[in-house]
Amino acid sequence: MLNCHRDARWRLGPAENSLLRVSPLSRPLFVVFEGIDGSGKTTQASRLAERLAARGIAVRRLVEPTRGPIGEEIRRRARDGPPLAPREELELFLEDRRANVRENILPALARNEALVQDRSFLSTVAYQGARPELGLSREDLLRLHGEMPKPDVIVLLDLDVDTGLARVASRGKHDAFEERAYLARVLENFRALVGEVGGTVVRRVDAARSPDLVEASVWKIVEPLVVARLLP
Ligand code: TYD
Repeated sequence: MLNCHRDARWRLGPAENSLLRVSPLSRPLFVVFEGIDGSGKTTQASRLAERLAARGIAVRRLVEPTRGPIGEEIRRRARDGPPLAPREELELFLEDRRANVRENILPALARNEALVQDRSFLSTVAYQGARPELGLSREDLLRLHGEMPKPDVIVLLDLDVDTGLARVASRGKHDAFEERAYLARVLENFRALVGEVGGTVVRRVDAARSPDLVEASVWKIVEPLVVARLLP
């Protein structure tokens, strides 16, 4: 039987979670994971979402590129070619993100949900900022995102390019984004963004360690934000 002691929402473990009423937070929480390919974003975003759900918090997992038509088109072209021209690529990422904000992010924020997302505008700043053909600076790329809701924290899973590429290769997946020299420039861009970007805090986590240790570091960053949003 469910033991309804005080603070039950916070204390009950995952096994009992299914019995619990899902509680909204006092205000929304928006966490984004960033990093180069192979840095472990998907694993860590899923673990964080599970942790939050186990506490009875309404969680939404999102990804960019999205699973919508534009995101799938970006993936298909990266996988099967012909490669997108840099301008076209940038425009598709922006359009995909606008759709995600409109259809997923804003409604979830309005319901005080916790949003855990793989990639957002920092990917555009780091990846498209590493395409000299575009000729756009970090500031130019950031300016394109002035209107979007800002994450409460961006967690950069920091991993060197060789380890990232080895992890991607072991999954038997390869696409046009995963060229070594390009990824090295992307990583450099990401690292230059640690601290604060356009009003959003960017925290670095060493992603070369075991998934459990990375998860613990991520939780240290996110837990205070969760606690500050728990209803009394
Ligand atoms: P990725 O997260 O690897 O998606 P999946 O593994 O599901 O295919 O994203 C695909 C690639 O898109 C990745 O290499 C980074 C790139 N990308 C950009 O260049 N700019 C962006 O704004 C985004 C969101 C992703």
